[in-house]
Amino acid sequence: MAFLLLCCMENLGLLLFGVIAMLVLPPAAVWLRLRRHGHSGPLPLFPLGNLMEMSKKKSESSTSQLVSSNMVTHDIHSSVFPYFSRWRKTYGNVFIYWLGAEPFLYVADPEFLRRATSGALGKKWGKPNVFKNDRKPMFGRGLVMVEGDDWSRHRHIISPAFSMSNVNNMVSVMEETTQKMLKEWGEQLAMAEHEIVDVESGITKNAAEIIAKTSFGISEDKGKKVFEKLQLMQQLLFKSNRLVGVPFGKLLCAKKSYQAWKLGNEIDELLYAIIESRKGQTSSNTGVSTVDLLGLLLAGNQEKAELERRLTTRELVDECKTFFFGGHETTALALSWTLLLLALHPEWQTALREEVMQVSGGRPLDAGMLSKLTKMGWVWSEVLRLYSPAPNAQRQAREDIQVGEVVIPKGTNMWVDVVGMHHDAALWGDDANEFRPERFGGEEAQGGCKHRMGYLPFGFGGRMCVGRNLSAMEFKVVLSLVLREFSLAVSPAYSHAPRIMLSLRPSSGVQLIIRRIS
Ligand code: HEM
Repeated sequence: MAFLLLCCMENLGLLLFGVIAMLVLPPAAVWLRLRRHGHSGPLPLFPLGNLMEMSKKKSESSTSQLVSSNMVTHDIHSSVFPYFSRWRKTYGNVFIYWLGAEPFLYVADPEFLRRATSGALGKKWGKPNVFKNDRKPMFGRGLVMVEGDDWSRHRHIISPAFSMSNVNNMVSVMEETTQKMLKEWGEQLAMAEHEIVDVESGITKNAAEIIAKTSFGISEDKGKKVFEKLQLMQQLLFKSNRLVGVPFGKLLCAKKSYQAWKLGNEIDELLYAIIESRKGQTSSNTGVSTVDLLGLLLAGNQEKAELERRLTTRELVDECKTFFFGGHETTALALSWTLLLLALHPEWQTALREEVMQVSGGRPLDAGMLSKLTKMGWVWSEVLRLYSPAPNAQRQAREDIQVGEVVIPKGTNMWVDVVGMHHDAALWGDDANEFRPERFGGEEAQGGCKHRMGYLPFGFGGRMCVGRNLSAMEFKVVLSLVLREFSLAVSPAYSHAPRIMLSLRPSSGVQLIIRRIS
């Protein structure tokens, strides 16, 4: 009996040793190889890599500031990425760190980025597999995640749908939806004793509705249900940090992963049904709306003579989800940060309001009017610099890539620190952390940034954001309508604590004092 027990324990011990060796040895070998190629960085502890240090709590003083005075600092890099800020001081603007068993090349050097990705090298980079798996319920094999020939095929059909003329047709949908939000704000003011509104929640709800309407339409029942379920999924996946890169990390968040998978399937089924019924309408030419993106994709698809170049129904489903997840949160955050910044800078608030009144005079908006909002354009660029909703861009090397002296081995992920570069005084000057929209109004391109790859709110290379015209249009519509109706000031209830939850977001809403303009 004792002998049997001993044998069992010995086998268990061997199994445990095997599992540990499997988790630790492969990344350790890659780590050694990277060091041999001249890459430095913080020491990882496998299988967690550098996650322990990254998840350490920041000191309270660095994370939040109550806004009793108007002294909100925009110097946010060290509070949103304290670990990068620390490591950068020791290892410079390019180094290796580890998310679990995945090596990441940190890059906050625009010249290094240019050399690593320009020309033919651009094709050697894909999207990190670790994120593809983590974000599968949101993007599936939509444009954000596909690579190679598949990416060209998707992009070729999708880009024209986002042309300026198509986006111009969406202004009235944006205006109508936003009017509903403003009415709700007005009702909140009428009911409450004070004038404080968390503008972020209204703006996010509004942006979600706009993107659902402009992507696949929600006037019919199925569209509405997709919209509700996408919002549920959003809460499930965006509002929590997950163990990205950690082996078996999904098992540790099994309940959430299962819920996301189940919701994902329900959304897919509904979208399948919508697309199939829309296909019928297009082919029989019953006047299907091409004003939304799905209609435009279906029309673009039919123009493709070669069947194999067309998007399949599965791919169209994933694109609808991609537009929703890629499009509304980012635009909503840009708008929320803008309202905060305008509340902090009344002189800019007044200037934009005057511009809007001059251009539109209170009439319904159209694309022609919006194109004349020059100062609003500067504010858009400056907000995307200081509070870039997409705080980083990622790639994964599909082949060994030589950059000067160093080799980036195949499989290495690249993590471009957009916040780091947007706040770097070496690129922007001593006023890098100040809100100065006029920097985008001068002669110099890119707001005077010293390197053309130092300003990347919409990413870089061929994979630059396909929805940027749409989001700029939505930004102008929503902001114009808000400014025409309300004045904004920061509420004492607001605490400035930007944080990263995939996007760069305020920790607990944006509470503003809003008053109707008489
Ligand atoms: C302020 C708003 C937005 C910001 C800051 C933003 C930012 C970005 C960034 C940083 C990328 C990655 C580029 C790269 O990897 O180099 C991207 C890609 C993408 N965005 Fe946006 N985005 C915004 C709005 C939108 C909207 C409204 C849509 C669609 C409705 C959209 C759809 C996409 C898609 C499909 C891609 C993938 C493009 C590709 O890989 O070819 N985005 N966006």
